[in-house]
Amino acid sequence: MDMNKKMVVGNWKMNPATIEESKQLSKKIKAAAEDLKNVDVVICPPFPFIYPAIPKEYPENFHIGAQSVSCKAGVGSHTGEVSAIMLKDLGVEYVIVGHSEQRAKGDSDETVSMRLKNVLDQGMKPIVCVGEAVRDAEGAYLEGLKNQIKNTLANVPKKFVKEIVIAYEPVWAIGATEAMRPEDIYETSLFVKKIFADVFTPDVGVKTKVLYGGSVNAINAGEIMFTGKVDGLLVGRESVSPSGFVDLLKAVAEKAG
Ligand code: PGA
Repeated sequence: MDMNKKMVVGNWKMNPATIEESKQLSKKIKAAAEDLKNVDVVICPPFPFIYPAIPKEYPENFHIGAQSVSCKAGVGSHTGEVSAIMLKDLGVEYVIVGHSEQRAKGDSDETVSMRLKNVLDQGMKPIVCVGEAVRDAEGAYLEGLKNQIKNTLANVPKKFVKEIVIAYEPVWAIGATEAMRPEDIYETSLFVKKIFADVFTPDVGVKTKVLYGGSVNAINAGEIMFTGKVDGLLVGRESVSPSGFVDLLKAVAEKAG
């Protein structure tokens, strides 16, 4: 992965309502990506809108992602599930696993690690969401974060580690009115890299891309990139506002130099 290139992932969640809106949103984001070559832009539409949202042609810094994937491998009798094989066949390159909204519905470190494995086995890149539910003054949340990352990565062979992107998303900052303070983002992203260095090698720690997510918008994105010194952003609400997301991308591109 090119460490100088910044990454912005748009997690559309359960938006927008129609195929046509998805197409329009994708088209606008693709056009913006064409002018911002120093930023990798990943759009993650809801499953039924992934295929319609894929433009006929798009620049190499524009990527298609999915918001989740089944923890079942292969295909088979699993009603309502979407397999990694299907996503790969659609043209998906990145898959979000372990988002806190999924964890809140019962996804555990163990099931997240199964999803992660399925994504890697299909040659796609996982965006692994981690983050504490609350912060305590004593710093016990750091231990929790460390365990969450270690458990989730427990079965990842070293050769696959370079494909993994981590999205650090403190749960309390998701869907909130304010993002985490950029200084704290910097500190915690270093902590995440240190865990990778400990679990794998120092080199892996340096090279692992760490994104920040939680109430990022066009206004705070530049400062989060600059002071937070993260490798990119995972964006929810602002990613389905065409003009807001394009402004956010421009702000990131400016900081990426
Ligand atoms: P938000 O969501 O940007 O709307 O806070 C972020 C996320 O859930 O990934």
